[in-house]
Amino acid sequence: MKNVTVGEFIVESQNNFPGSTGELSKILSAIKLASKILSHQINKAGLAKEILGSAGRENVQGEDQQKLDVFANDTFINALSARGVICGVASEENDSFIAFNDNVNNDAKYVVLIDPLDGSSNIDVNVSVGTIFSVYKRQSKKGSPVEMKDFLQSGNNQVASGYIIYGSSTMLVYTTGKGVNGFTFDPSIGVFFLSNPDMKIPDMGKIYSVNEGNLNQFKQPVRDYISYCQSEQNKSNYTSRYIGSLVADFHRNLIKGGIYMYPSNTKNLNGKLRLTYECAPLAFLVEQAGGRAISETQRIMDIVPSELHERVPFFVGSKSMVNHLEEILAGESK
Ligand code: AHG
Ligand code: MN
Ligand code: MN
Repeated sequence: MKNVTVGEFIVESQNNFPGSTGELSKILSAIKLASKILSHQINKAGLAKEILGSAGRENVQGEDQQKLDVFANDTFINALSARGVICGVASEENDSFIAFNDNVNNDAKYVVLIDPLDGSSNIDVNVSVGTIFSVYKRQSKKGSPVEMKDFLQSGNNQVASGYIIYGSSTMLVYTTGKGVNGFTFDPSIGVFFLSNPDMKIPDMGKIYSVNEGNLNQFKQPVRDYISYCQSEQNKSNYTSRYIGSLVADFHRNLIKGGIYMYPSNTKNLNGKLRLTYECAPLAFLVEQAGGRAISETQRIMDIVPSELHERVPFFVGSKSMVNHLEEILAGESK
């Protein structure tokens, strides 16, 4: 295969959008840079004690922040603000959005929402973690400070979304609404190469992914679906895989086919995952790859968030598997 770097790919894709100003390309390039810095830190996590373990404080959602959560957050926000191409950012690790108020950034037309380090409880045990991002056009007037409404848009308005997985290799997977492409990082030369062009999720898979420790707290239809996955009546011989890093579970199912579920449970009535910087960006990606993403009752992309850190039940993956689950949730099938 021709060695296409992500930089070349971004420029080539930009040429397909007449009138493009290159701002989106610069955002992707900032994300690429921050991900290289983070990848480097993650790879030496076992050696560098200053980046392992808890930062000794909680984020607004009451979750213990890891040192690497804080490092990842600072790295992405610094890279994005330095380019002058976005007017604000919202992150899992910050209570509210951050407005970039200087003149250059105020004139920018995009905002970014980000989960800087996903699966951070896995970092201390050498298991894959990730970053998830989403890009929207601002709704407020250019030149004025960003407002909350710029960050609370339905997933349908996304201009781009993607993730980085820091696994056995580091990969960047993203969409700008024209399919999904994956790039693998070559650490020896510091470059991402196109490795997975035009990714498509198989229509049907064998994998179901859910935290079965919560099984007894799920609603009956979800338990019925999981029973189906486990039953002999299921001729496809489903198998269970759950890493506990959303990005890693999503990435595996995207390639192999499968369904990932984080349902509501008796403790968390809206599940655990956050709509704006976890579910909506992955919903955009999976739909671009031919799959589906729903909450219990609606398409994730159609939900208009009412707050930044809103949680939502999340079911995502191969189209036929999500269709089947949806029928069971609606009481139409067993
Ligand atoms: P984060 O590390 O960004 O807070 O996200 C953690 C999420 C997600 O990565 C993962 O799929 C899920 O939490 C796992 O939750 P359980 O441990 O409840 O299964
Ligand atoms: Mn997360
Ligand atoms: Mn996170």
